Amino acid sequence: MIGVFDSGSGGLTVLKAIREKLPKADIVYFGDIKNAPYGIKSIEELSDLTVHAIELLQREGADKIVSACNSVSAAIAASLADKLPKQMIEMVGPTVGAFKDSDARILLVATPATIESEIYQNGFKMIGKEIVTLPIRDLAGAIEFGESDEKVEQIIRDSFNDIDTSEFDTLILGCTHYPLVREIFARTLPALTIFDPATAVALRVATDMNEEGNGVIRFLISKDSEPFRARVDMLLPVTQNEIRVLE
Ligand code: DGL
Repeated sequence: MIGVFDSGSGGLTVLKAIREKLPKADIVYFGDIKNAPYGIKSIEELSDLTVHAIELLQREGADKIVSACNSVSAAIAASLADKLPKQMIEMVGPTVGAFKDSDARILLVATPATIESEIYQNGFKMIGKEIVTLPIRDLAGAIEFGESDEKVEQIIRDSFNDIDTSEFDTLILGCTHYPLVREIFARTLPALTIFDPATAVALRVATDMNEEGNGVIRFLISKDSEPFRARVDMLLPVTQNEIRVLE
């Protein structure tokens, strides 16, 4: 069984892409809403939360893990080697890999934790590319807890105030929450091509994890949340969605 986790509903964008590639896979999803947002936490805190999420998913029967959260990728790379399951996929590798043969001029937006870890900057350096990064501090939390579109748009506009976007042609959404408001990014920055890493990650999952089951998806959340339930119904309408709130 494949276990997928994120701080909340961001990973649902990745789950949806995995579901499209592997319709028969059995998947258990953990959204750690009680501890969201992850993207403003320290790497030590993120390491602990990652170990907790992986162990929880393993107890639920997952033997393969997908981290659908960019903010924990540095924690995974830095300190968890001995605790990681044999089969584990995170966001950064497949995203960078998707640009191997590209001459795109890239601006990458993500949480402060992701940008400060420099995991994307270093990943792109390994394929000979320089990228420019922009942290958006309050966006993932605003999306997770169901702020209005107007508020989300204001956060996005404010964060781009000091950036000359004409230097770029591609905007990578380096936080899995951001594709949930992709249309707002698109209307705020109409000249940029938006890249959502979910498809690249799902392709890697389909190639490496090759899981065949009964197509069941179970959801676990560490705190109940209406926006989360609404997104599950919107993104995965054809599944029988069992959502369990953990105490
Ligand atoms: N969706 C996660 C990410 O990709 C975490 C966002 C957050 O909780 O701050 O970074």
